Amino acid sequence: MPALHRPSPLLRAEVQPVDRDGDPAFCAAALINGVELVVADHFHTGVAILEALDRLLPAPPPEAPYAARRAAFVAHRAASLRLLLPVRDHRIAVLGVGPLPFAAALYPELRDFYLPFAQVQELHGSAQIYEEGVHLAVLGRRLRPFYGVYLPTRTEHLELFGTWLGRYAGERRRAVDVGTGSGVLCLMMARAGFAELRATDQNPNAVESLRRELSRAPVAARVELARGDLLAGTDAGWADLVVFNPPWIPGEPTSAVDRALEYADPELFERFFAQAAAALAPEGRVAIVWSTIGQLLRPEAPHPLEAELARPSPRFRLVDKLARRVPPGPGRRRTRERVEVWELQRA
Ligand SMILES: C[S@@+](CC[C@H](N)C(=O)[O-])C[C@H]1O[C@@H](n2cnc3c(N)ncnc32)[C@H](O)[C@@H]1O
Repeated sequence: MPALHRPSPLLRAEVQPVDRDGDPAFCAAALINGVELVVADHFHTGVAILEALDRLLPAPPPEAPYAARRAAFVAHRAASLRLLLPVRDHRIAVLGVGPLPFAAALYPELRDFYLPFAQVQELHGSAQIYEEGVHLAVLGRRLRPFYGVYLPTRTEHLELFGTWLGRYAGERRRAVDVGTGSGVLCLMMARAGFAELRATDQNPNAVESLRRELSRAPVAARVELARGDLLAGTDAGWADLVVFNPPWIPGEPTSAVDRALEYADPELFERFFAQAAAALAPEGRVAIVWSTIGQLLRPEAPHPLEAELARPSPRFRLVDKLARRVPPGPGRRRTRERVEVWELQRA
């Protein structure tokens, strides 16, 4: 099992300490200017500095161009990561904060180091979700995603996939869930009666997440986990069904969870379709869970699924496409976005 993704530990000999006597705005300006600071007394000192940073580098409005919002995000992130917290003996060595979440799993070989303050906050957020779990109606139970794994925060696309899966009339012997993330689609297929499943992900934390999920709540299907690119060496002709909920947005991902949402790799879909064509049984199907969000955000970017279907020598044909509007939800503005399930068969 390759090492898990984790916030990079910093082993610094000298760092400049800050405490509650420092002016948060002055400290935030130092972070913007490239100075690394370490919180020396209380967690709240760091919170105040990051709040001051938000005031110095406010996010552009949602209607600002994508490139401007992205550049502002990158600048803010770089500055915020210069504010550090000391970790001693796997504990955060300041007052006002609990133990370092996931310390034993993520840092088995290290006990004393520094971590960016913002990433410790992210570890706490993720530990809370991991401990409480998230109830998913499509599964009829809670999922507990591990740190660094994409967790569906809305479920229209999962419900649409559930509708599609209910209608699916093909064989239910063997299926691959490509880019399994928290494992939700794999677990939906296990519930829908597939006998053998392969769940793959390039992100080792996703594989670890589903491994933990299956050991807490075993399923009837035989599930093989594989860390690797796309179909990760699935045998030729093995799969009755290949399912992929790919990243939907062409972008420049900066973290493992970003990579789950955005793809920078122009060859991603080309590689996926080549591997899926090889892995499918003769009557097999590909189901792609998709959203129009990428086209709405980046209308100039090519549509990777339409590009595949328009190849001069087609590998796939479209069998069916389900679509559903994304309704406005709490804290979500009205949108033209639709979620879709594309069912393809070899041409
Ligand atoms: C949008 S998330 C979907 C996760 C999950 N299947 C779901 O429906 O909630 C995309 C997933 O694909 C994985 N992924 C992206 N590129 C990949 C690649 N080249 N090979 C394997 N997995 C990949 C990401 O790590 C992420 O877990």
